[in-house]
Amino acid sequence: MNIIMQLNNQLQLNTKNTSYVMHIENGILTHTYYGKRLPDADHGYMAKRYSYNCNFQSKISPNLPSLDNALLEYPPFGEGGIITPAIEVLNCDGTNFADFRVTDIIITDGKPVLCGLPATYAEDEDKVKTLEVKTKDAVSNVEVSLFYTVFYEYDVITRWAVITNNGKDSVTLLKALSGNIAFENKNYDVISNFGAWARERQIERAPLLHTGATTFSNCGSSSHRANPFMILAQHTATEDSGEAIGVALAYSGNHQMSATLNEYNVVNFSAGISPDNFRWTLGIGDAFTTPELVISFSANGLNTLSQNFHSIIKNRVCRGVYRDKKRPVLLNLWEACYFDFNDEKIKSAADSAADLGIELLVIDDGWFGNRNNDHTSLGDWYVNENKIKCGLKNLCDYVNSKGLMLGIWFEPEMISPESELFKKHPEWVIKVNGREPTKFRWQLQLDLANPEVCDFVYDSIANILKTTNIQYIKWDYNRTMAHVGSAYLKAEQMGEYYHRYVLGLYGVLERLNNDFPNVLIEGCASGGGRFDIGMLYYTPQIWTSDDTDAVERTAIQYGTSLIYPMSAQSAHVSVCPNHQTGRTVSMDTRHTVALTGSFGYELDPCKIDDSDREYIKEFIKFYNDNFDVFQNGKYYRLSNPAIDDYAIYQYILGNTVIVGAIRLNSHAVNLQNTIRLKGLDENYLYTDTKTGEKYYGSQLINYGLKLAASESAGDYKSFLWMFK
Ligand code: GLA
Repeated sequence: MNIIMQLNNQLQLNTKNTSYVMHIENGILTHTYYGKRLPDADHGYMAKRYSYNCNFQSKISPNLPSLDNALLEYPPFGEGGIITPAIEVLNCDGTNFADFRVTDIIITDGKPVLCGLPATYAEDEDKVKTLEVKTKDAVSNVEVSLFYTVFYEYDVITRWAVITNNGKDSVTLLKALSGNIAFENKNYDVISNFGAWARERQIERAPLLHTGATTFSNCGSSSHRANPFMILAQHTATEDSGEAIGVALAYSGNHQMSATLNEYNVVNFSAGISPDNFRWTLGIGDAFTTPELVISFSANGLNTLSQNFHSIIKNRVCRGVYRDKKRPVLLNLWEACYFDFNDEKIKSAADSAADLGIELLVIDDGWFGNRNNDHTSLGDWYVNENKIKCGLKNLCDYVNSKGLMLGIWFEPEMISPESELFKKHPEWVIKVNGREPTKFRWQLQLDLANPEVCDFVYDSIANILKTTNIQYIKWDYNRTMAHVGSAYLKAEQMGEYYHRYVLGLYGVLERLNNDFPNVLIEGCASGGGRFDIGMLYYTPQIWTSDDTDAVERTAIQYGTSLIYPMSAQSAHVSVCPNHQTGRTVSMDTRHTVALTGSFGYELDPCKIDDSDREYIKEFIKFYNDNFDVFQNGKYYRLSNPAIDDYAIYQYILGNTVIVGAIRLNSHAVNLQNTIRLKGLDENYLYTDTKTGEKYYGSQLINYGLKLAASESAGDYKSFLWMFK
């Protein structure tokens, strides 16, 4: 089996079901093919491109009038056409032209680490190889190494670039994307997410036109509004059929994903750090590593594409003990108390939660400094003894004595103007010199480009972890980065600010992961405002949205599932009427929805009546008995809650199948009576564990499961089946 094959001027990368082929023509690396697996063969005929309007000869071949019509693997700026450049280098003479030609090809086993950046990783047993194509601009001596790691079993290829200045003068990178794939348009649609606070990752799908498609974030984080991935799917592609290519960036800062279509029908599909306000100076000998781009292709529609991403992210991005260990069923007290609590209230919550079978109790915002509302105290990470009179350690011991773990909330990157920290270090704030910094939610942001600030952030958290038995942190981030300036960086480094901030953040998270390997960190950013592969490298689960309404969550979790595994999406059962929408739905429905994520609760356990308590106890038992299915099973989207009358999902692990359905719209005349299941063994006989009824896999796949016709009318009813 050839994972990476070099044949003359051809490079072929193979995964189990896909091939990625490139050619080198006149030293220029061009893209030839990405799609369903090809035989290991000479594909040279595919690499030839023709044009009939030849008014000047390009560097590749006299047949090709300009590089616009070439499928460049990493296009530089300045070829005179409308190719979207992947790299733009400003030379010391003020020009920004470069011409990168291949100088060397290196194939190695496994995968190198990306210095200071989150990335996929290989384990010993993996069939993983890495290709490095070295290229160089002969005039400036700037070198670009294009890396490709092939995860054979996962049907995933990852890409990144390392740009090294081996010239005699400094150069400045104005753009340095992680990758570009160029191919002929096959009537593609662009699929991406848009969103807002409490409305994250809604799906948009539209045809790719010559005006192109771009999603981006310039607000310092990956953002609520544009998640860092993009999918190109054939216009006819569905969940189960048709071709789709997805790219997702392992990065949590400013990003840009784009697909352009030029006059020769060439698509340039690219992704990386947003070039807006990006300027990175490379002194002599310096190198810059781009974030990693994770790429997958499916010939069988979007669901397989999503499963490929789920599997690589779950197994080869997420790390630490909680990658594989059962995630604890947690109860977060935010919606129960907001800022109004004390140690007695938490102890009562612990008693009550223990009785329900909860495994982890989380104290959210408000336990530190003088924090009684959101105006103060971020940065003062010591316990508020007016509220927690017994001290954090004693409280933790109490909670532990009830058989529960204790977790707490931090917003480590922030500082309140009304805080002890601000009095001591006003210069640690992100702000433009001579201007008032802008507040969001009354708070300012710390300058994580400054290593001293990063040390402070690390120490604040480490002190608490060293002196208590806190086993979980919710790492929140509740503002957008704006009016950016730093007392630490020099004026000429300001174009590096956003990326340096992200590197600072990753550095702190890495140290915490290494020093406290048993602590589970959950990401959060006003809900799901920083839900990306970069964060999942450090925090194996992320709070999906501040919207805990079960009905709204069906679309949010559905959109998130395009790329991210369900185990990464925290999903909680909250009280009704719901605090965000005022909607009331049944306990059943709230639980059925929360199963499509890392499962937990967001309510006051002391205020639950007896019948709900019994329900919750039973449900937690059911979840614990089957957690493996929810954490590690294959996930199928059986309907689209944004348009269908039902939200329906399915998990399958081994011989266990779990199906959940939530009725979003009731009709007097019901047009949907069956759900066709997926991925079952056609010849197995499956037993409905509730009714004992038996069905062949082929019946459930080809005819389907009956949505109980006798169920009474009413919106938001839910149904949960388990088959063995
Ligand atoms: C953000 C989070 C919430 C909660 C609050 C606390 O909004 O998303 O879950 O932690 O902050 O202030």
